[in-house]
Amino acid sequence: MNAYQIILKKREGKKINKQEIEFLLGGYVKGWIADYQMAAFLMAVYFQGMSDEELTEFTEVMAHSGEIINLSSIAGVKVDKHSTGGVGDKTTLVLAPLAAAAGIPVAKMSGRGLGHTGGTIDKLRALEGFEVHLSREEFIDRVLDNGLCIVGQTDNLVPADKQLYALRDVTATVDSIPLIASSIMSKKYASGTDALVLDVKMGAGAFMKTLSEAQDLAESMVRIGTRLGVKTAAFITDMNQPLGRTVGNALEMKEVLLTLRGEGPLDLTNLCLKLGSCMLVLGGKEDHLELAEARLKEILYSGRALEKFISFVKKQGGSIQGIEDVELLPRAGMIQDFKAQTEGFVQEVDAFKVGMAAMTLGAGREKKEDKIDLAVGVELFKKIGERVKKGETLFRIHSNSEKKFEAAIELLKEALVISVDEPLIPPLIYDYITGE
Ligand code: URA
Repeated sequence: MNAYQIILKKREGKKINKQEIEFLLGGYVKGWIADYQMAAFLMAVYFQGMSDEELTEFTEVMAHSGEIINLSSIAGVKVDKHSTGGVGDKTTLVLAPLAAAAGIPVAKMSGRGLGHTGGTIDKLRALEGFEVHLSREEFIDRVLDNGLCIVGQTDNLVPADKQLYALRDVTATVDSIPLIASSIMSKKYASGTDALVLDVKMGAGAFMKTLSEAQDLAESMVRIGTRLGVKTAAFITDMNQPLGRTVGNALEMKEVLLTLRGEGPLDLTNLCLKLGSCMLVLGGKEDHLELAEARLKEILYSGRALEKFISFVKKQGGSIQGIEDVELLPRAGMIQDFKAQTEGFVQEVDAFKVGMAAMTLGAGREKKEDKIDLAVGVELFKKIGERVKKGETLFRIHSNSEKKFEAAIELLKEALVISVDEPLIPPLIYDYITGE
């Protein structure tokens, strides 16, 4: 067996077997298969795709390149949630305490943000002292004790994915459905979950720009999960405009707290209720999504999800001062409004451009080594379908630099389109896909 033969087989659209996958990935991680051969293989996958069997084996072998977390000491069905990445997507921070308060053990490993989308771990760092690096024992103890723990992904979680992703990034092979699906599912499988709810984002600010691409990705991940014994379901949700009304770490934390107090934006609240209902059904806590949603509403509006969030923050060493008084969260030096020059209806709030504006302000990373500024970001005062009068605030920009502020304004001017006609409001959820 050699790498050349495996590349050739894939290039000709033939199926490769598990031994060949092990040989290729194992050799690549150990360094005796070169980047140029792996790059050729990735390009062959890009054009030829992979069968479900191949893709499941590829995912499993990737997962086994590092540690497979064992959560068996935690009783009950562990249910994780994963978003393919969006702008203003603070869902996990509402959903995790909500599901945990309903009795689902949530042992979650989250990533940092990259590019125009944000990461849960960065948002949590807006709470002073919050510890995202725990030992494996501490991680499991927190879940046993409080039903919820969120930590950063360690370097030993699917090291093969880190190498492959870096290579895909420079060889135009990132946007391949089998490669995205195996990258995501290998990390979820390695993190030891029993069940998984996927939030596949679709639209201007998402990886997947069309419904059919998002469906292909969602179906592929659901099939991989099901074959690997992880009960998996996927929602396809809107990412044409940002989720909620804030983009930027401390601003998003503020909105999370508002939502946990039952006063959050409708889109964010509803999405958390829908994803959460699915977590309850997969976790065996309810038989029907409708009953699960009613239960979650009661938990949310009675303040029990907020209580769970507070105990979770305390147990991970975070200060709750910023929770009790959101004015104590990191705050930018310059806060300025961008106002409407015309009147009409908001036709578009391009999530990608808003995400780029937030990244320009310093809320996100262009490269993974970049430092982020927790205080900066954008508040959205108007979303698609809302009426605008001349002089009304469209965005409030939080910045710590005049130059970055000017650059962000230019992007935001392009992001929001006002027209005289009342537009159609995009649905929050486009599709729901299960393994059955
Ligand atoms: N997110 C991942 O984890 N991997 C991809 O390939 C794309 C998005």
